[in-house]
Amino acid sequence: MGVRCSCSLFPFYSFFKFLKGTNDMREQLEQMRQQALSAIAAATTEEMLNEVRVRYLGRKGELTGLMKGLGTLPADERPKVGQLVNTVKDEVEAQIEQTMNRAREEATAKRLATERIDVTLPGRGRRQGSKHPITLVIEEVSEIFAGLGFSVAEGPEIEHDWYNFEALNFPPEHPARDMQDTFFVENQMLLRTHTSPVQIRTMLKQKPPVRIIAPGTVYRCDSDATHSPMFHQIEGLMVDTQVSFADLKGILTTFTNQLFGQKTGVRLRPSFFPFTEPSAEVDIACVICGGTGCRVCKQTGWLEILGAGMVDPEVFRHVGYDPETIAGFAFGMGIERIAMLKYGISDMRLLFENDIRFLKQF
Ligand code: PHE
Repeated sequence: MGVRCSCSLFPFYSFFKFLKGTNDMREQLEQMRQQALSAIAAATTEEMLNEVRVRYLGRKGELTGLMKGLGTLPADERPKVGQLVNTVKDEVEAQIEQTMNRAREEATAKRLATERIDVTLPGRGRRQGSKHPITLVIEEVSEIFAGLGFSVAEGPEIEHDWYNFEALNFPPEHPARDMQDTFFVENQMLLRTHTSPVQIRTMLKQKPPVRIIAPGTVYRCDSDATHSPMFHQIEGLMVDTQVSFADLKGILTTFTNQLFGQKTGVRLRPSFFPFTEPSAEVDIACVICGGTGCRVCKQTGWLEILGAGMVDPEVFRHVGYDPETIAGFAFGMGIERIAMLKYGISDMRLLFENDIRFLKQF
């Protein structure tokens, strides 16, 4: 491509060096023209074309340099040669423009070809998540009790001994504490073994009447096929001036009928909890066989689903309620057990394994 010079004054040097007269200049011009045109022809991208433009037509370009050197020609030659240089400049300019347009079109066509979207490909749908059965049961139970005037209360999972045991009438060293194998943290702190401490926290915060349910996670140092060290309970508490054992049975019957969709009702068996007196264990007619007896209910026709009772006066004294003027009942149920019965889940461990194939069935 002609003589190269790294010096920025290259156009002038080349001009003075090669141009001795008009004829030389014409020759020089023709040579430049051809070089420019073949450089354009060889250019395949916009950048390459821009380089050609700078090289020949730029402020320090070769053709521009030639134009600036016109002054060395005899005066009468200048217009003619000047015109000639202009013609070549125009031609080169036009050629660059044309080639540039073609390069752009080609680039666009290439991009369109590579970025083409095949609209016939099947879509990649987003899989929808589903709620965990434990969450589903908590939501359904909360909704049923909302309809009965109960609101939702919460408490901490790392709990103080006083709320988890002592205020609930489990004195220190009392054998009743053996009912619940406890994970102790430190300084009288422990992982709550049941949701009953939320009863205490709620009553300390508000005056009667109280109508709450408290769903939550609880912990016991216990692990086998039917026990998990972490599980869930829903606590219930109703306190008012006139609350009787009949109210307890009525509320629980309404609740279980709504949850399991049957009319067979509930059965109460005498039991013991330090914080309720009297206490009961509550059974529902077996949801599998309807009460005739099967493997799930061990041929009894009944399934135990919760513990309940009338709030012990000692508990009321701990929270500053007057046991002479008010009364209440409380109940507590295991959510895992209810989920298993409701959805026909045979192994409790399935609820904690987080296997998508299991979870997406709900
Ligand atoms: N907290 C008891 C348990 O975990 C259940 C219960 C709650 C019993 C409320 C009576 C009243 O076993």
